[in-house]
Amino acid sequence: MSAIIKASNGHAGSSANGANEKRPVTVPDFLAARGRGTRLTMLTAYDYSMARLLDTAGVDGILVGDSLGMVVQGQTDSLAVTLDEMIYHTRMVMRGCRRALVVVDMPFMSFQISPQQALENAGRLVKEGGARAVKLEGGVRSAEAIQAIATADIPVMGHVGLTPQSVRRLGGFRVQRDEAKLLEDALAVEKAGAFAVVLECLPSEVAQRITDALKIPTIGIGAGAGCDGQILVTYDMLGLYDELHPRFVKQYAEVGQQIVQAVSEYCQEVREGKFPAAEHGFR
Ligand code: KIV
Repeated sequence: MSAIIKASNGHAGSSANGANEKRPVTVPDFLAARGRGTRLTMLTAYDYSMARLLDTAGVDGILVGDSLGMVVQGQTDSLAVTLDEMIYHTRMVMRGCRRALVVVDMPFMSFQISPQQALENAGRLVKEGGARAVKLEGGVRSAEAIQAIATADIPVMGHVGLTPQSVRRLGGFRVQRDEAKLLEDALAVEKAGAFAVVLECLPSEVAQRITDALKIPTIGIGAGAGCDGQILVTYDMLGLYDELHPRFVKQYAEVGQQIVQAVSEYCQEVREGKFPAAEHGFR
């Protein structure tokens, strides 16, 4: 692991906390980055080793996303993910992370019942998991929950557009095009006290207009280059999860294929008696 970490270029280009790039990225850094026009970088992680790699590479924010329901647990959507599972994964990510701002998803039915339920569960993510901020899906419909959490000084990131927890109502993971509704949702999230908002799967020009209308940073996924930052599911961009191929994902590596190749080589060498060799044993 340490050889991999040392090989990293790390922190290429300007980052969220600019000149102080070694200290942890904070919520005010996200807001200041927007003011400076510095684009924010975010990726997802669900465990210690991946968080450590992303942090070393200089990503500004790590999301412990409930996408773990699909890419880690192998389910068809994120709806079954529990708060206790999010806390478990957050603890692992926090141990691997020195600099990036760790934001944790509030899973389905952990915030919808009442603002009090939302606040209690956000508090658990902070106290038991170590989350630095929480994220929850929904615009106008989630505004009261966001307000309750933000009022307790827990930073909240909103998430509008395609909200994966609405997959049953939407009938699939579809691009969202109702501009008036999208803008209304984004403004509601900002007014409720969110410090940033994810815009997922909407036309690029709509995302640009929403970004222009807001004061808080927008973090796009499938929302074009006009957002203040970008986020991707790490398993998608590294080629570790091949069951869905969203158009908005750029494949930066084929790690999944490399793993299959390495493991089949290992199996072959063990079967042929080539591994372990003399240097892998003890005298
Ligand atoms: O759960 C997740 O990974 C997310 C991102 C897709 C933004 O919410």
